[in-house]
Amino acid sequence: MRFSLLASLIGLAVGAFAQSSAVDAYVASESPIAKQGAGIVVASPSTENPDYLYTWTRDSSLVFKLLIDQFTSGEDTSLRGLIDDFTSAEAILQQVSNPSGTVSTGGLGEPKFNIDETAFTGAWGRPQRDGPALRATSIIRYANWLLDNGNTTYVSNTLWPVIQLDLDYVADNWNQSTFDLWEEVDSSSFFTTAVQHRALREGATFASRIGQSSVVSGYTTQADNLLCFLQSYWNPSGGYITANTGGGRSGKDSNTVLTSIHTFDPAAGCDAATFQPCSDKALSNLKVYVDAFRSIYTINNGIASNAAVATGRYPEDSYMGGNPWYLTTSAVAEQLYDALYVWDQLGGLNYTPADGGLAEQFSRSDGTPLSAVDLTWSYAAALTAFAARDGKTYGSWGAAGLKVPASCSGGGGATVAVTFNVQATTVFGENIYITGSVAALQNWSPDSALILSAANYPTWSITVNLPANTVVQYKYIRKFNGQVTWESDPNNQITTPSGGSFTQNDVWR
Ligand code: NOJ
Ligand code: NOJ
Repeated sequence: MRFSLLASLIGLAVGAFAQSSAVDAYVASESPIAKQGAGIVVASPSTENPDYLYTWTRDSSLVFKLLIDQFTSGEDTSLRGLIDDFTSAEAILQQVSNPSGTVSTGGLGEPKFNIDETAFTGAWGRPQRDGPALRATSIIRYANWLLDNGNTTYVSNTLWPVIQLDLDYVADNWNQSTFDLWEEVDSSSFFTTAVQHRALREGATFASRIGQSSVVSGYTTQADNLLCFLQSYWNPSGGYITANTGGGRSGKDSNTVLTSIHTFDPAAGCDAATFQPCSDKALSNLKVYVDAFRSIYTINNGIASNAAVATGRYPEDSYMGGNPWYLTTSAVAEQLYDALYVWDQLGGLNYTPADGGLAEQFSRSDGTPLSAVDLTWSYAAALTAFAARDGKTYGSWGAAGLKVPASCSGGGGATVAVTFNVQATTVFGENIYITGSVAALQNWSPDSALILSAANYPTWSITVNLPANTVVQYKYIRKFNGQVTWESDPNNQITTPSGGSFTQNDVWR
């Protein structure tokens, strides 16, 4: 019996960072094989049962995130040509009209393409709105390195247009329904929301850096809305993150663990707002998720309840037999490495081939590889877990200190950023507030009315995200020494447009 990747990774996690030589040897032999496979953006060479000879935006972007991290950190300086090939290929794919639309009508949400860069026109779970966000995150990382190295022209002229298409798509469509990363459930999905939040957050910072200031506030506004919406997936009584708003399952899903590792920010501590790997919420979720696989796979039989087990996409999964997956099992270890968390017992043994090949799944009963052979994402997942084991991190994306906005909008439909300006003369200590008929305006509550800024006194201002295409009534109120004074009747009323921003100028009455 050989140590498998999973046994190795899990063993490491359980072993309190004990440096087992068997595991070190495994990492040494797996790493070069995995990197070789990861250079190919074909999802898997498997051509039947299942046919994976396609390129998925998600898989490609996650794999290249790894390669770009390795290149920009100086760990592998040979990768630049491959990375340039990737960004060029993605720029082409963005423009390919497909069943989800054209580049400007939703085509960026198309999940997969033929490997000759033509559209895949068969039936599929589309759109999948995580792809553009993941791609933007990967390319931004590379672009930041190029900027650090003085290559501003290439970044501004060649990479920024590609990044901006993806970020605009995310900003415009994040609150539309999407197929989840497993291509099955059409609703809202935690992984998708989280990677969209990350992309817009770091996209705003990146846009500022290259002087594209006009997009910054729009991206930031939608990032705030995404961060709000992200909180809604938390299931407080179950102690876990419900992966999808639809789907009719338990909601326990590696979706959430993959989110934790792919939105890990080494500068953000254990912040729960962004579900950092060591946050109470992400760890509670991890335990619930892992526990869901203890009794459903024979291969996990006999493993103690405090030891690591093989995990799959979600417990109800039946795809190709519904088995453990390499990339979900290594994600568990990676979250723990990221969290500097320690498990204290070795995991079980199972099977991966001596040549280091990593398929998509391994049998739930005897551990033999199953489904697509040489799944590129499986290799990338192994390498990111190895890197995490070595204590390597690849920079911050700006998650540190983020606070969930007090007032949230979106998540149920399109929003419009509405700026209210009101001319009002006040005495010292008196402030102007707004409240109105929608949740974003605090449902006519004077107590929780939103305070306006007097930066341009006597004009008082606030920008609020309101539901699009909606009749909204509101009034300004004054508060002075605890006393509330409402504007005279009737209520003010606007009808919000279908998107973008809107300015309303008023005079206090
Ligand atoms: C293929 C998808 O890639 C996979 O995620 C899904 O589980 C199966 N189709 C079954 O719907
Ligand atoms: C099926 C997985 O569910 C999906 O996430 C992935 O993109 C494709 N296979 C290709 O690997």
